[in-house]
Amino acid sequence: MSEEIFITSHDKGSRYAELLPQIVSVTEVEPNLIANLANVSSMLKEVFDFFWVGFYLVHRDELVLGPFQGTLACTRIKFDRGVCGKSWSAGETVIVTDVDNFDGHIACSSLSKSEIVVPIKVDGTVVAVLDVDSDTLASFDSIDELWLGRIAEIIGNLFERCEKF
Ligand code: SME
Repeated sequence: MSEEIFITSHDKGSRYAELLPQIVSVTEVEPNLIANLANVSSMLKEVFDFFWVGFYLVHRDELVLGPFQGTLACTRIKFDRGVCGKSWSAGETVIVTDVDNFDGHIACSSLSKSEIVVPIKVDGTVVAVLDVDSDTLASFDSIDELWLGRIAEIIGNLFERCEKF
């Protein structure tokens, strides 16, 4: 397994396009889910320098913090609460251009200004969410939605294939 990421493009979409096959090649050889989620969060952080990027995993009636890169984060989020809980309940990606204007936003850090949350599904059921925060307003758009959605599909396959510990 290569332990370095190679990205040469400058525009966001092309950087995602270069990163995607590298996520596949890193994760396809590892059977453990947590190890793979940890490396995916690291790769996204390294390539895009997001303020915070990580996973919340569905456990009973709440989301529990999983592998992430960034500052200290809240550990549990109830169904339908915050941006993450809304993405879980709706089963859809939620883009927040200004967290101060999102009713019920859960502020893990006052430095977070905008956010995107993408659901990860197995057989149509949300099993986790991928949460990305930025310290600048309006950082996320349809390009992030498209590519993070593709990454979420890869991760959904990992939930099916990998051991959970
Ligand atoms: N802001 C999220 C909580 C998670 S942190 O951003 C890492 C929310 O409102 O669900």
